[in-house]
Amino acid sequence: MWRRARSNRRIFGAGDHVDQLIVGVQTATAQLVPAVKSGDKAAIAVAYTAAANACNACHTQFRKEE
Ligand code: HEC
Repeated sequence: MWRRARSNRRIFGAGDHVDQLIVGVQTATAQLVPAVKSGDKAAIAVAYTAAANACNACHTQFRKEE
């Protein structure tokens, strides 16, 4: 039980930095939706890459700490 509380705090306790990563994902996905609706394949590719990078930025970060 204590161990679980600590591991949760590892990510939520990271504070501002995690907020930034989440904002990055929100910004990227906010651009992805209209790109997909427009049907413009080049715009979708750009927006998709930005979203994937935003997701991976966080995954890479927290895996490094292991
Ligand atoms: C604020 C940090 C953060 C952001 C942003 C984030 N993730 Fe994650 N994600 C995690 C953590 C932490 C784990 C679990 C620990 C691990 O596997 O390294 C995880 C695990 C996952 C997994 C489980 C499989 C795996 O690779 O371990 C998937 C799938 C996933 N995330 C998808 C996404 C997608 C898609 C996005 C973007 C829309 C995203 N995540 C954005 C933190 C984040």
